[in-house]
Amino acid sequence: MAAAIGIDLGTTHCAMAAVRSGDRPEVLWNREGDLLTPSVVVFQGPGRILVGKTAKHATKDLPGDCVESVKRHLDDPGWSFADSHGGTHSAVEITALILRRLAEDATETLGHRVADAVIAVPAYFDDAGRDATGRAAELAGLNVLRLVDEPAAAGIAFSTSGSGSLLVYDLGGGTFDVTVMNVEGADPRVMATSGDRDLGGLDFDERLMRHVAAEVRKQTGPDLFDGGRRQAELREKCEQARHALSRAFQTRVFFGGGDRSHTVEVSRERFERMTKGLLERTAVGTEEVLGEAGLAWAQIDRILLVGGSTRMPMVRRMIERRFGSMPDTSVNPDEAVALGAALLAAQGANRRRGPAAVTPPSAVRSAGREKPRTGTEAHRRRPRAVRRRDGELH
Ligand SMILES: Nc1ncnc2c1ncn2[C@@H]1O[C@H](COP(=O)(O)OP(=O)(O)OP(=O)(O)O)[C@@H](O)[C@H]1O
Ligand SMILES: [Mg+2]
Repeated sequence: MAAAIGIDLGTTHCAMAAVRSGDRPEVLWNREGDLLTPSVVVFQGPGRILVGKTAKHATKDLPGDCVESVKRHLDDPGWSFADSHGGTHSAVEITALILRRLAEDATETLGHRVADAVIAVPAYFDDAGRDATGRAAELAGLNVLRLVDEPAAAGIAFSTSGSGSLLVYDLGGGTFDVTVMNVEGADPRVMATSGDRDLGGLDFDERLMRHVAAEVRKQTGPDLFDGGRRQAELREKCEQARHALSRAFQTRVFFGGGDRSHTVEVSRERFERMTKGLLERTAVGTEEVLGEAGLAWAQIDRILLVGGSTRMPMVRRMIERRFGSMPDTSVNPDEAVALGAALLAAQGANRRRGPAAVTPPSAVRSAGREKPRTGTEAHRRRPRAVRRRDGELH
């Protein structure tokens, strides 16, 4: 029976996993029967809070009371969200609501109370981000066994199927991370890591939104960037269209209601052209991190694709063009981080059951982070192109 879970606390989606029996982790269902829980919270009024899928569905109707992508603010203690009912909520409090929901759902799915967790955090998070994650977990009633860097967790999930030099290319909802590591057995060692905390699926959506809104204007339709319901609907439809374009070569975005409707046709080719610059930024980051690790593409044994946005065919094509062979897609890209964190959680829980004492909670937040990161203050203010090179793993 699992005693602890692994959590991927994503910008747009969260996943939780556990080792239930044997030694293989599995992703856990949430109360809606989904494997991913949207990282969305809606404040409907005092004590009336929606989290996850119901919150995501409510964003169109309550855009002013809805918080998305709170992770982008978690390392900024000055950030807060004011709802329309007079309530103010810090990023830590909002994150705690999401974590509590995950813990409740895991408890329900596993059939016993889940109190211990390993939580994955972005490699670029400085001590403020890590500390905020720990405080959010505490508020949610979770005991953090340790925090693990997202690429390291993904590396652990894949490492069960081989060793050698790995490049983890993680394009999620809100961030891009790329890490080169060396894996021996279940022990990945980070050689270099880099990323862009403001580059993810949301930015690809944004480009498509601008295109669709411009086309609707050309049809003498309304301004879809109204900061409210229309814009929320535009975002939702463009994200769906982007997903469709990962399989189909053509899709359409439709706006109905009122006395007029508008349809915008989008081809994959057109979408790829409008987002080429974003993809190029990930390619440049990847080349840089290889340079920092002192490796050429030919010296990388496997490339792992992590993050839901790597489902876009242009990502795979770009990697294949540069790497010369297919990336490893043996683990579901939006589940890898949670699965790796679950493996660590199971190890932590087992260790605790044995004679060795577990790391005290006060030290857990910085587990494996003996060396303070350099330059993180500057990165927080100037968030692009966060880069780090050290031998640290988690
Ligand atoms: N089929 C698909 N085609 C294109 N994009 C997809 C597809 N499926 C999911 N995505 C995108 O993947 C992103 C979510 O991925 P994931 O859950 O890995 O990110 P996250 O963990 O929330 O974010 P981050 O890792 O940046 O904190 C979203 O932007 C979503 O639109
Ligand atoms: Mg992620």
